[in-house]
Amino acid sequence: MLVKARSVTGRIGVLVLAGLALCRAAAAADNEPLRALADRDNFRIGTAVAISPFWADQTYRATLARQFNIIVAENAFKWSQIHPVPDSYSFGKADDLVDFARANGMMIRGHTLIWHNQLADWVSSGSYDREAAIALMRDHIRTVVGRYEGRVTAWDVVNEALDDSGALRADSFWYRTIGPDYIALALEFAHEADPAAKLYYNDYGAEGMNPKSDAVYALVRDLKAEGVPIDGVGWQMHVVNGFRIGREHAENAERLAALGLELTITELDVRIRLPATEAALDRQAETYGDIGAFCLAQANCAALLTWGFTDRYSWIPGFFAGYGDALIFDADYHPKPAYSALHAALEASRE
Ligand code: XIL
Repeated sequence: MLVKARSVTGRIGVLVLAGLALCRAAAAADNEPLRALADRDNFRIGTAVAISPFWADQTYRATLARQFNIIVAENAFKWSQIHPVPDSYSFGKADDLVDFARANGMMIRGHTLIWHNQLADWVSSGSYDREAAIALMRDHIRTVVGRYEGRVTAWDVVNEALDDSGALRADSFWYRTIGPDYIALALEFAHEADPAAKLYYNDYGAEGMNPKSDAVYALVRDLKAEGVPIDGVGWQMHVVNGFRIGREHAENAERLAALGLELTITELDVRIRLPATEAALDRQAETYGDIGAFCLAQANCAALLTWGFTDRYSWIPGFFAGYGDALIFDADYHPKPAYSALHAALEASRE
């Protein structure tokens, strides 16, 4: 009896120990950074970097280096930041990020060269005819892309040229001064400055099959047909919690692949209506898992970048009132269920 009792206890003990070992193994696996898993898959997992915490917050920097193998600047490469006054550039922030990427074996994307927003006031308030605007654009692109030639390996050359209906934004400085061919010109200038860089058209709301993604498709198809250098389409993916990947996303990705174009998920975040419940965080994890698995499975999906990584620093609360908690680490750098889901997607893709 005593022996049996001991052996039952013993077996329970073994089970408990085995359980603990499994938990520890799971925890250890969860501790394996995203980039380690991605590297094994030859995949790129990344994030946007905000310059203030990058300079001031050691945990921010350490998490960045540990978890990701590609970065993009949240603002530092935008015209108003990098070219704030005529005839003078301000490369300090962008240089720091490029150096950090190199020191940590990461790739870096350039965001963005030509956009109607965050353009310097001296440009938008100036008066330029078509030739002068083209000269201005050429000079900016040559200077910025040329400086980082071979280091910034992909550029969002043109950002958000289309409005929500899919029409070219007529109120954009670039459209007003140059006309619709500003997109092709920007791509040509970028290609001249760095022939090896991957050149992207980046936009939001064009991920599934809808009038806007039809317009993006038509735009890049025509560019390709005209021999304009373009390599990929960026899907921003600032989505609302509850978003799920469907057949339409694969369909859209595949029609881009058929044009010979790659795809990058450039700005993923999944905003939650605050306060976030546990159920909402679990739902968010499903969305992250979904999108991670989608990009990993889609042959032409080159990389997945989130728009920031910690809820401590995110553009969402400032731009979408009542929403937040959109990223994969919480405000104290603890991994959220969304982190585990992305982690699991990376792990599963190796099996
Ligand atoms: C946002 C930044 O996150 C903010 O810090 C900034 O104030 C405004 O721009 N689409 C884009 C990004 O292409 O450049 C935007 O970034 C978010 C929407």
